[in-house]
Amino acid sequence: MKKIGVLTSGGDAPGMNAAVRAVVRKAIYHDLEVVGVHQGYQGLIEGKFRSLELGDVGDIIQRGGTMLHSARCLEFKEESGQQKAIDQMKREGIEGLVIIGGDGSYRGALALTEKGFPAVGIPGTIDNDIRGTDYTIGFDTASNTVIEAIDKIRDTATSHDRTFIIEVMGRDAGDIALWTGLAGGAETIVIPEETFNLDEIVYRLQRGKERGKKHSIIVVAEGVMSGTELKVELGKRGIDTHVSVLGHMQRGGSPTVRDRVLASMMGAHAVELLMQDIGGRAIGIRNKSVVDYSFSEVFESVHVLDEAMYKLSKELSI
Ligand code: ADP
Ligand code: F6P
Repeated sequence: MKKIGVLTSGGDAPGMNAAVRAVVRKAIYHDLEVVGVHQGYQGLIEGKFRSLELGDVGDIIQRGGTMLHSARCLEFKEESGQQKAIDQMKREGIEGLVIIGGDGSYRGALALTEKGFPAVGIPGTIDNDIRGTDYTIGFDTASNTVIEAIDKIRDTATSHDRTFIIEVMGRDAGDIALWTGLAGGAETIVIPEETFNLDEIVYRLQRGKERGKKHSIIVVAEGVMSGTELKVELGKRGIDTHVSVLGHMQRGGSPTVRDRVLASMMGAHAVELLMQDIGGRAIGIRNKSVVDYSFSEVFESVHVLDEAMYKLSKELSI
């Protein structure tokens, strides 16, 4: 391979820039040309290409967001859209593609691979919901953003003897809620992977009150219900709460060391695969080692929550 493309797709995540930088620098180090695709699969279909040199990825490793911009593109879900993208890449002389994104983006990568175009995937999403990798790029930064918010809310919750519901991101996965809930000492963590029981939440709050606890933190993953909906339900049961929705601030900010290192290692590995003409692989980290595995492995089963961690969070919040 002489020329490869790189794009970021789906929800952005801190560390995507570090991954783009690693792809570009590693490729150029090995005498490959790199083309950056603007706005994910949409840009691929429209041929929004730009050649990337060493200097183009300078001063981005510390920046949140993605210099290539991201998009969600319905047209790419259709075969015709995928074929248009392949035709554009062929015209440009691109022989392999690195896709940095979440599981939706991986489905697009699989579609390209099945059409004979070599694509490799780097897990870039704050949700940490991609099967086969211990961590995704952005999860650590987002979790640290959330914990900063929880700590601040706890200060005011304590001063006013209030119960706060903090709604965090996580459409289908509760990792952000679980990790930050545990780290932030939340009394209750509500996540999509576990049965949701309002009576249990009420019981836990009342139990705390009986032993003199005057404030509480409930962390809810948006995929279960909104913070406001939970407030209404608890209100019906005589419990007054305040709601804080953290929203898209969780997706921004300078990436942590962990996310930058992860992104650098994964970006380099993606290039190594393409240099060997290997496509159809998802990149991950398992027990500190970078690994690659087939896209079908990603979709064969659902993301598994760390049950032991969930159990621990309950034990520590009695
Ligand atoms: P993420 O990658 O963060 O999970 P999305 O689920 O929105 O974000 O997916 C990003 C993009 O990937 C979509 O806008 C679409 O262009 C592409 N995509 C998603 N699902 C498929 C699919 N089944 N086939 C082909 N492309 C897909
Ligand atoms: O997949 C990442 C994510 O941030 C989810 O946690 C969230 O549900 C979703 O993207 C929000 O997407 P959008 O930015 O399109 O509203």
